[in-house]
Amino acid sequence: MAERSGKYRSQGIFLAAALLVASSLQALAQVPPPVSAKLRERIEVCKTCHGADGNSQMEKIPSLAGQPEYFLLNQLVLMREGVRPVKEMAEFVKDLTDEDIQSLSAYFSKLVPILTGPKPDPALVAKGKPVAEKLLCVSCHGKKLEGVEQIPRLSGQRIDYMIAAMRAYRMDKRPGADTTMSAAIASASDGDLVALAHYAASR
Ligand code: HEC
Ligand code: HEC
Repeated sequence: MAERSGKYRSQGIFLAAALLVASSLQALAQVPPPVSAKLRERIEVCKTCHGADGNSQMEKIPSLAGQPEYFLLNQLVLMREGVRPVKEMAEFVKDLTDEDIQSLSAYFSKLVPILTGPKPDPALVAKGKPVAEKLLCVSCHGKKLEGVEQIPRLSGQRIDYMIAAMRAYRMDKRPGADTTMSAAIASASDGDLVALAHYAASR
């Protein structure tokens, strides 16, 4: 496990993490982090798109509930720094401090994930299973596809969002600190991606 995460953590991940080291040390000294009135306001803004309970009711917008804290933190830093530009979110992330990002990540990681959006189609779930096994999704995303450290939860994530995300990886339109995901699905057809999303969401 240590070996795997060491291997797949790219330099960019370390950079993102380094930006937060100072505030992590501060956070250790004051557990749990206080949620200020300003942060509560920000959380309300996030929920207008990502769902009142962190589970998104909007097409192609991901749920954040139950994502690994480190994944959320990492993506928010990448978005703030413009490495993963998300135009819908730009104005909401540009002023976030490292502390805000830490508190937001801690908050959303503790909410309970519930599958929203399209329901898994049993035929596609059955089609996706052997593809997922062949392409070793669990080796990075965890035994139950629940996410590990900087790697996202797939179980309970919206199917439409995951299909869009995988297509974006395949077209090199999802920039980030980690390119392992594009390689993982390089051999999959578009039909495979759809089946994989149904399978992963249903775990
Ligand atoms: C106007 C709608 C909107 C608002 C408000 C918004 N987001 Fe997002 N967010 C999105 C969209 C759309 C995406 C997916 C972008 C993509 O397809 O890559 C996203 C993606 C994310 C992701 C990446 C999740 C993943 O699984 O890859 C995180 C983390 C995130 N948002 C956190 C937040 C937080 C925290 C806030 C509040 C400060 C927030 N968002 C406010 C629309 C929004
Ligand atoms: C070698 C490790 C690895 C393997 C194998 C792998 N992934 Fe990933 N996956 C990642 C990483 C790392 C990310 C986040 C990358 C980033 O920062 O954008 C990711 C992101 C994703 C996302 C985006 C989720 C989100 O919330 O934004 C989806 C969907 C996904 N993977 C599906 C799969 C499926 C399905 C499989 C099996 C076919 C798979 N992955 C195999 C490492 C992997």
